[in-house]
Amino acid sequence: MYDEIFEPINIGKIAVENRAIFPPISTNFGREDGHLSELFIKHYERRAKGEVGLLIVENSSVSYPEGKHGAYEPRIDSWDFYEDWKNFAKRLKKYSSKISVELTHEGWKNKGVNFLSDEKIEEIIEDYVTASEIACKVGFDMVEIQGAHGLLVNQFLSPLTNSRDDSWGKREEFAVEIRKRIAKRCGWDFPVTIRLAINDFKEGGINLEEGKRLANVFQDYYQMIQADIGLGRKELRLEPMPFSQGWRAYLAEKIRPLKVPVAAVGMIREPEVAVKILCEKADMVVLGRTLIADPDWLIKVREGRVKEIRKCIGCSECIKARHDEDTMIRCGINPQVGREIEIREASVRKRIAIVGGGPGGLEAARIAAVRGHEVHLFYDEFGGTLNLAKIPPGKEKIQWLIDYYREEIEKCDIVVHHKKALKGDIIDIEPNVVILATGSKPLLPSPPLRNYVYPFNEVLRGDVRFEEKKIVIGGGGLVGCETANFLADNNEVMIVEMLPEMAMGMETLSRRYLLKELNKKDVRMLTCTKIVDIGYGEIIVEQDGEQILIEADAFIAAFGSRPFVPFRVESVPNYIIGDASSVRNIYSAVNEGFEVATKI
Ligand SMILES: Cc1cc2nc3c(=O)[nH]c(=O)nc-3n(C[C@H](O)[C@H](O)[C@H](O)COP(=O)(O)O)c2cc1C
Ligand code: SF4
Repeated sequence: MYDEIFEPINIGKIAVENRAIFPPISTNFGREDGHLSELFIKHYERRAKGEVGLLIVENSSVSYPEGKHGAYEPRIDSWDFYEDWKNFAKRLKKYSSKISVELTHEGWKNKGVNFLSDEKIEEIIEDYVTASEIACKVGFDMVEIQGAHGLLVNQFLSPLTNSRDDSWGKREEFAVEIRKRIAKRCGWDFPVTIRLAINDFKEGGINLEEGKRLANVFQDYYQMIQADIGLGRKELRLEPMPFSQGWRAYLAEKIRPLKVPVAAVGMIREPEVAVKILCEKADMVVLGRTLIADPDWLIKVREGRVKEIRKCIGCSECIKARHDEDTMIRCGINPQVGREIEIREASVRKRIAIVGGGPGGLEAARIAAVRGHEVHLFYDEFGGTLNLAKIPPGKEKIQWLIDYYREEIEKCDIVVHHKKALKGDIIDIEPNVVILATGSKPLLPSPPLRNYVYPFNEVLRGDVRFEEKKIVIGGGGLVGCETANFLADNNEVMIVEMLPEMAMGMETLSRRYLLKELNKKDVRMLTCTKIVDIGYGEIIVEQDGEQILIEADAFIAAFGSRPFVPFRVESVPNYIIGDASSVRNIYSAVNEGFEVATKI
């Protein structure tokens, strides 16, 4: 069914086994001094083990410290790093994947390239050439020039950052010159590809027509083009969850046909989508977060085990780590990212009782079962809070995680007790270990005004419905904002938040996207505002020391939740994980489920 994905393709003279590319994804697994670490290599080995056709190492610095992009960016700017890359290439060569590395110079985002002297430009071109020579010598199959995302090459390409009146003002010239010089040193047979800004998505920047023109020029120099995004809005290239699959594959389609392969980038998660793109729009598909979440995606597709794929849900935990915190990446649903360990069979088979069918309980059950334990899983609702999280607009992909666990739990030899577990039920099975993944309960204001104050979960679940009502939501954290987004299509919604900002703690781009949606739907958002009193029909809030009366038909409590642990079982180890331990997110639940199940 998915044969198109597995058709070989040539990039220059290099034969690539299939049409899938693992694109550069900065991990921060390297060392601060630019050397590679064991974790860094293992992360890429794991992706290569998953049989991706072409694996491109994350942006690596061609000039240091000037062109550095990120705290732990690997360096390929000097021969001092030769041994690191040699070792990397040697380790990766055990797999069928062809390997490349993304050569990056951050440039000067605010200044552009007009101020650069000819000597400086020469020096930087030489930096790209040295980096390519290192890659070529150690055994990389090709290199990629980062020519998108607002970085240096993109700055030369874009009219917004390059208005030079010398030869470099011919904006493609810098990238062409880099390519020619690499060929001089490494030969034309050593392929060079480019991640190209086809559209800057910014007034006055590269537009589609210009992107097409650039691609036409570059097909004579570069052996593959990734149709990517330029210096405009960052959320377009690191899409939050609500973006639809393959939404920007049209960029690849627009620049075709070319005499070199063109790759489509962005949010390609399902093999059906990949195949459709390969049939209509592009020669190759980029599977970035797709392979972070499940490095075995290709193997599962090839073997017809599509239902077993753990599809990236777009939770942006990886982006939060890399871009908000500049720390090692983590994955909301794949706890092995950052710790690529083998899951070992347990030395002693134990009977494990797991209470809770949310992501923490399900992950713990999956891993404990894989390790050979006798697992008893108790839940009243499969998926737990995921069933609420998937309801607001744009959150549908969360269903994928529920589907994945359903498949895994069915596949494993797990005794499923589909019931709300009482302590006696757990004692009855005489477990050696109890894992409590019992989640949380919403906090409610007191007194609880019946038929007026509702907890957010009842609203999302549809226990109570509103149509053309005036609604106040107390609490503007993630849950309050998502609940507002859910209600605002049919109601007049206001959020009252004590803190100075809405949705604090959320990953920046997803937060920006969500707040934009709320603005579009005319949701009123009051920050630095305290709720003083809630009475039937009216709510009194305080802002800047002044009390304001707000009329409302209903009040939704989204003040947060508190951990819920209904019981403990004496004389055996009890592990409390996920929200039951402290209320956080999918990542924490999955991660703790994994951790506890690997150590029992
Ligand atoms: C955590 C993270 C780090 C990234 N780092 C890089 C990078 O080093 N270089 C680059 O060109 N793109 C980088 N990207 C962009 C990806 O290569 C890719 O284009 C983007 O994630 C969209 O594809 P996907 O939906 O398949 O993930 C990064 C993306 C993420 C999520
Ligand atoms: S952290 Fe979230 S967005 Fe990133 S790869 Fe994992 S599931 Fe996808």
